[in-house]
Amino acid sequence: MAPIEKRVVKNLSKKMARLLPRGTMALLKKIGALADQNNCSAFVVGGLVRDLVMGRRNMDLDIVVEGDGMRFAGVLAKKLGGSLVVHRRFGTASVYTPEALKIDIATARKELYEAPAALPTVEFSSLKNDLIRRDFTINAMAVSLNSANFGQLIDFFGGERDLGLGRIKVLHDSSFIDDPTRIFRAVRFEQRFGFRIDAHTEDLLKRAVSREMFDRTEKQRIRDELVLILKEPDPLKGLRRMDSLHELAFIHPAIRFSRRMEALFKSIGDCTAWYRNSTLGGRAIDGWLLYLMALVDDLGYNELHSLCGKFVFSNRDRLRLLAFKKIYKRAVAVIGKKSVRPHRIFALLEPLPYEVILAIMAKAPSQEVRSKIEEFFTRYHRTRLEINGRDLKAIGLEPGPGFKKILDKVLYRKVDGYLKSKADELVYAKKLIR
Ligand code: CTP
Repeated sequence: MAPIEKRVVKNLSKKMARLLPRGTMALLKKIGALADQNNCSAFVVGGLVRDLVMGRRNMDLDIVVEGDGMRFAGVLAKKLGGSLVVHRRFGTASVYTPEALKIDIATARKELYEAPAALPTVEFSSLKNDLIRRDFTINAMAVSLNSANFGQLIDFFGGERDLGLGRIKVLHDSSFIDDPTRIFRAVRFEQRFGFRIDAHTEDLLKRAVSREMFDRTEKQRIRDELVLILKEPDPLKGLRRMDSLHELAFIHPAIRFSRRMEALFKSIGDCTAWYRNSTLGGRAIDGWLLYLMALVDDLGYNELHSLCGKFVFSNRDRLRLLAFKKIYKRAVAVIGKKSVRPHRIFALLEPLPYEVILAIMAKAPSQEVRSKIEEFFTRYHRTRLEINGRDLKAIGLEPGPGFKKILDKVLYRKVDGYLKSKADELVYAKKLIR
């Protein structure tokens, strides 16, 4: 069979030079030259190509090799002085450069494509064979790396046209059946770029939703896609769209999009923005986790506990989600009291992860509670004593369980603003001992 023409659209090398860091560009050229030497063809594919065409920056290096990709990955790792991790199960490899860049490498195989649904069974070039298995036309373009045609954009399926039209379109009718996580991905790309899922694709998506395809999918993969939607700059938009496509039921049948949830999402946006602009903002927080807390806000503790198990959330995420569920009511009751002293708020909030505190702040029923949490963050959070156990020993207290009690009491006194110096702390400790 004659080789199948690659559909070359244009050359992107100038755009690449403009948008990619110099090191990445040099790396892609090296990969191309190495492919020349090894008599194979190498392409960069996926999100980086999509974003290049759109004029956006992207650092994901997904490489497809026509030839022996695994061998090529080994040669590349050696050439770069990097390390190689082979994922046998998927037939892929990752090369880590000494500069800590990650390059994912897959082999494109020439084989008969057992066509799902509408496609005739034909022999494709290996690259086309790889690309046609991908999710959407906009994600199924490639750029050549070999030196003779470095930078050439290859677009078999009208990805560039769909980018221009702002259209999310599958490559074939069974795309959502092959991989139901694409049901979430379609919404994510639609919202991120302000695109629209095309009518036929939406039809296929809804059919896949009604066939409950998620039940046959690894829950971790659904979780990862959900988290990615919650990490987008405006997750509320994605959530609204997921609701209109009946996707929320896959997270839990009791989750309903409501005005209350919408208000909570907005309040979380405000609180995280406040946090990031405050002096504490240097410490990164998982904003997506706050949105997830909002999403599961109508669930009870036990329902949330089993949801965490079902979607295999990490222990740390599970503990934070459950802590918010458990502590919210008590926290609001304590903080909302008119004459509450700072040390009571301190004792309650200080041990909690920031995400839990910010979620309490976002959901708080009154501005008064919110202000007190703001005050906690800005005025007495991280208050520590200057004295320690050694000082207590020096003034004659026998080491024992009483130590912690006394130190806590001194700390709370300090939080309430009564102790200004180490000497004050010591005087108060002595008083307590007496
Ligand atoms: N892909 C796919 N089906 C999936 C996941 C990924 O076909 N369920 C393909 C797409 O070609 C995608 C590429 O693998 O472009 C890389 O996937 P990923 O890194 O998850 O997404 P990106 O498109 O790079 O998007 P993002 O910018 O969000 O990283």
